[in-house]
Amino acid sequence: MVEKNILNDLELNHFIKIINELCGMDLNDKKNTLLLKLPNFLEELNFKKMADLLIKMRTNKDIRQKTLNFVTITETYFLRELSQLQEIIYYIKSLEKRVSVLSAPCASGEEVYSLAILATKHFVKDIEILGIDINSNAIEKAKKGIYNERALQKFTPAEKKKFFTEENSSYKINKSKFCPCKFDICNVLDNNFLNSKKFDVILSRNMLIYFDYDSKLKLMENFHRILNDDGRLYIGSADLIPDNIFFEKVFSPGGNYYKKI
Ligand SMILES: C[S@@+](CC[C@H](N)C(=O)[O-])C[C@H]1O[C@@H](n2cnc3c(N)ncnc32)[C@H](O)[C@@H]1O
Repeated sequence: MVEKNILNDLELNHFIKIINELCGMDLNDKKNTLLLKLPNFLEELNFKKMADLLIKMRTNKDIRQKTLNFVTITETYFLRELSQLQEIIYYIKSLEKRVSVLSAPCASGEEVYSLAILATKHFVKDIEILGIDINSNAIEKAKKGIYNERALQKFTPAEKKKFFTEENSSYKINKSKFCPCKFDICNVLDNNFLNSKKFDVILSRNMLIYFDYDSKLKLMENFHRILNDDGRLYIGSADLIPDNIFFEKVFSPGGNYYKKI
């Protein structure tokens, strides 16, 4: 049994620092939540003290992944920030070519499938979408494509019927109805992040809000490398990108986006 007062300030700060180095998240304003939740997490891992976790999250791949799954916030739902998703589909349609889209992060896949459903509704066929996320549980769920009623609340009953199959009060997405959607576990801050592939459109929504300044800049550098020269980067309405040498904002009646400098 892990004692509830086992965490001291130094260890908590150390934990926050490692998480920041691993995935870019700044957990400094989540200290109280961490103090409440970390003892149970240690117990789940069978660790008696925080020092065990601090060492293992650097040296043991499995513990590192479990810790990243523990700290990341994967809350999402279908058709989130719908007007922007629609703008992206109109833009893709206007390109009249095969378009490669990256959703980074995709959490449990709702953003990817929402785009795919909108593409089908607007007769956009030449599109492929890759969703990536650092949380392995979320990617597993995305691949399975099974969701609860709550995630689907923005769909009409007809859309639900067309794009999902109801199974024991869950809804399984009918992948055959739309474009190819793939998913992968991936850290957007890795140096060899998606090395060989380039995209026409990148969506990065509701992750930057958790990142510190340096991680945001590193992310922009990585996105710059994998976005085609005339490609577009779309971020969420709550996300902020600091001034940087990689991207500039374009204000457009069809929806704001970022283009490469
Ligand atoms: C709130 S979700 C956003 C999902 C979706 N884009 C949306 O707007 O609803 C934030 C996601 O960012 C992911 N994330 C955090 N740091 C990451 C990193 N370094 N690399 C990849 N994904 C990361 C988390 O695992 C989480 O699933």
